[in-house]
Amino acid sequence: MRVHVADHPLITHKLTVLRDADTPSPIFRQLVDELMTLLAYEGTRGVRVEPVDIVTPVAPTTGVRIADPKPLIVPILRAGLGMLDGMVKLLPTAEVGFLGMARDEETLQPTTYAERLPEDLSDRQCFVLDPMLATGGSLTAAIQFLLDRGATDVTAICILATPEGLAAVEQALEGREASIVLGAVDERLNEQGFIVPGLGDAGDRLYGTV
Ligand code: PRP
Repeated sequence: MRVHVADHPLITHKLTVLRDADTPSPIFRQLVDELMTLLAYEGTRGVRVEPVDIVTPVAPTTGVRIADPKPLIVPILRAGLGMLDGMVKLLPTAEVGFLGMARDEETLQPTTYAERLPEDLSDRQCFVLDPMLATGGSLTAAIQFLLDRGATDVTAICILATPEGLAAVEQALEGREASIVLGAVDERLNEQGFIVPGLGDAGDRLYGTV
């Protein structure tokens, strides 16, 4: 299990506006999309490619193309949906599967309420999108789910994490073929399961309270 924090002034700048409680929903959505594009650059460093022969107007040469089977992008509903477009822009040939997960507000345990994924993920490279890694329960369950279905490697792209949540995911997935790319690691997890200072509830700020 590998963890990489993308350290870039543009990411920190956009994150600061995202954290601000005064930032309204339309701007919040746009910033999540922009942050995703920046994080996708780091997150797709390991995307599998294969050689391809082409001819330029001047000479034949060999380049690369995204290998088969195509990568699978898995946004975790709801908040991960806000990251989907930014990722698809960079990997337009990828397929998209969905996992719906919600935390119980008391126990903070995640439950899976929706799943639309290929039955067999053998040899598939998967990219999981979820802006928030708080206790780490949702991400651990999502990554485990994909690996158990045969995915060969899973990269999670998150905007914010807590040190406690990261440690929990790392412990649960020790020795598995997974990595996490992050915008920032915040101070801590509070008693209500929120990231501090964080940005509040990403799902609510993107889509409102339901
Ligand atoms: C949030 C967030 C993650 C999860 C993180 O989702 O988007 O999926 O909580 O918490 P964890 O690391 O403690 O598991 P939430 O359950 O609020 O659902 P939502 O995206 O529909 O708002």
